[in-house]
Amino acid sequence: MTDSYLYRLVYTSCSTIDGSPSEIKTTIDDLLTVARRKNSQVGITGALMFTENRFAQVLEGSEQAISSLYRKLESDPRHRSVRLLALEPIAVRNFGSWSMAYVGGHPDLAREFAELDADDDRNEGEIGGELVVELIARHLSNSAATA
Ligand SMILES: Cc1cc2nc3c(=O)[nH]c(=O)nc-3n(C[C@H](O)[C@H](O)[C@H](O)COP(=O)(O)O)c2cc1C
Repeated sequence: MTDSYLYRLVYTSCSTIDGSPSEIKTTIDDLLTVARRKNSQVGITGALMFTENRFAQVLEGSEQAISSLYRKLESDPRHRSVRLLALEPIAVRNFGSWSMAYVGGHPDLAREFAELDADDDRNEGEIGGELVVELIARHLSNSAATA
């Protein structure tokens, strides 16, 4: 795919999904099935992280495609406190092989994300999209290596 105007959007949010761990997993699996189908139709790639009750997501694609998805995401009742960290042009995709990669569950991920969040509070909300991208990419390659 040629990406003449490629953008990246990064946000965090708090999950509102209730239920037992297995019910939560089913809801996220269903969400990912729809997300992957729709993303591949509009040229969006990216990654979703879920840990404890937090989401972080990276969307890559045309500015029009990711802005229109973000408007839907902001009003999706499965999460709240959606907070935009970055919307910026990029030269290449980090998650070009995934219509929506997923990382979750690992205790190290929860701890590292909590540390980013804590730093964010100290730095008055300047948590970098780049840090979130790097965290997700690292855990994705760890889980691929051990899969
Ligand atoms: C955490 C989270 C991540 C999501 N990620 C995507 C995504 O990557 N792509 C997508 O199309 N929808 C995603 N959705 C679902 C959208 O909010 C929306 O429900 C879906 O795109 C269907 O929109 P439609 O009813 O207008 O067709 C996500 C929802 C949540 C709560």
